[in-house]
Amino acid sequence: MQEPHPIASAFFASHDKTIESRRLDNDSSAQQRTFVSNIRNSIGWRTRFASATMHPVQITPVECRTLESDNSSPVKFHVRQVFPEHNQIKQASNLGTGATVWPGSIILLRYLEKLAHDPQQQNVLLGKVIADLGSGTAITSLASALLGARLVFCTDGCDPVVDLARQNIHSANLELTNTDESLKGTTIEKEDCQFDVRGCKIIAKRYLWGDSTLLQELPNDNEGNPMNTDTTQIDIILSADCIVPKLYPIKPLIDAIDELSGNETITYLSYEQRYYNEYNPSEEFRRLARLRNLKVEVVPSCELNEFYPANDIEIWKVSRYKINLEEEDQFDTEQKTKVSVSQEKNNHEALLWHMR
Ligand SMILES: C[S@@+](CC[C@H](N)C(=O)[O-])C[C@H]1O[C@@H](n2cnc3c(N)ncnc32)[C@H](O)[C@@H]1O
Repeated sequence: MQEPHPIASAFFASHDKTIESRRLDNDSSAQQRTFVSNIRNSIGWRTRFASATMHPVQITPVECRTLESDNSSPVKFHVRQVFPEHNQIKQASNLGTGATVWPGSIILLRYLEKLAHDPQQQNVLLGKVIADLGSGTAITSLASALLGARLVFCTDGCDPVVDLARQNIHSANLELTNTDESLKGTTIEKEDCQFDVRGCKIIAKRYLWGDSTLLQELPNDNEGNPMNTDTTQIDIILSADCIVPKLYPIKPLIDAIDELSGNETITYLSYEQRYYNEYNPSEEFRRLARLRNLKVEVVPSCELNEFYPANDIEIWKVSRYKINLEEEDQFDTEQKTKVSVSQEKNNHEALLWHMR
């Protein structure tokens, strides 16, 4: 494992300490705030572990067993990243972009962690069924499991990436189990691609966006048919940094969200702004989403985790429009017609008035 530079280690150790003290003491002093804002301005969190073979994640879990989030102390796990320059060229080239931890995944998991522990907010993952799309190293899937999810489908379209995710879930689970005395000796893996991570089942499988294979994993009706999407059991869809249109078209991702979304499903996506001459990926995503009756909202940056600032990364919340957009469009047209008729009437009356 490649260690960060000692000065960077000292700097980040102090950063972690500050985060921890802020967590314990909500009435933090002005001094602490200044310190934190200084860190914020100079922080290199994006590059901190960018080239570490074993990328660490320290996260404060929500204990599913007791549902007590406040008393739990942080736990640490690692996911392996594969780099071409580490003599793994053949393996890395098969893995595409899924072999490393992207900053968007950190922004997403830190946002979810914040929601999970904020008494004013709802822990959107608690007891929920999650589909992680384009999961890469499995970092967001593992985080979701620790943040209270009941079942996580950790999915990627690239087979070698799914293998890497399985290895990472397996090793992270061992790491978490060995550091948790109460869980020592319990069975970790149920089947080849199913894992029990602190009471949450993670199923790591290949899912090519929109290919309908994930729906088949969901509970069947009495006749053994998969439930249709109106009764889908996917509560939350996660997708970290998968809007990269130079590499992957946007439409299949919309197909997948549409396919897996019931009326109440919410998708949280992290989106890193990248600029293209031809078009704006954000607008294109919204346009395609609207065609599927999906609404896209940007989570205000003040709601994200302040210790992981990134001006170029947003979290989007995607959900079904509650009314059918065709009806809405028709409604709009009717309203506009009414307005223009009454406007014409007004104009006509005004004209008559002038002519008097
Ligand atoms: C930029 S990586 C992000 C990985 C991870 N979510 C992260 O943020 O660290 C994009 C991932 O999307 C996956 N992907 C791209 N197109 C896909 C598709 N059509 N179906 C399923 N997965 C796809 C890639 O294999 C890759 O793992």
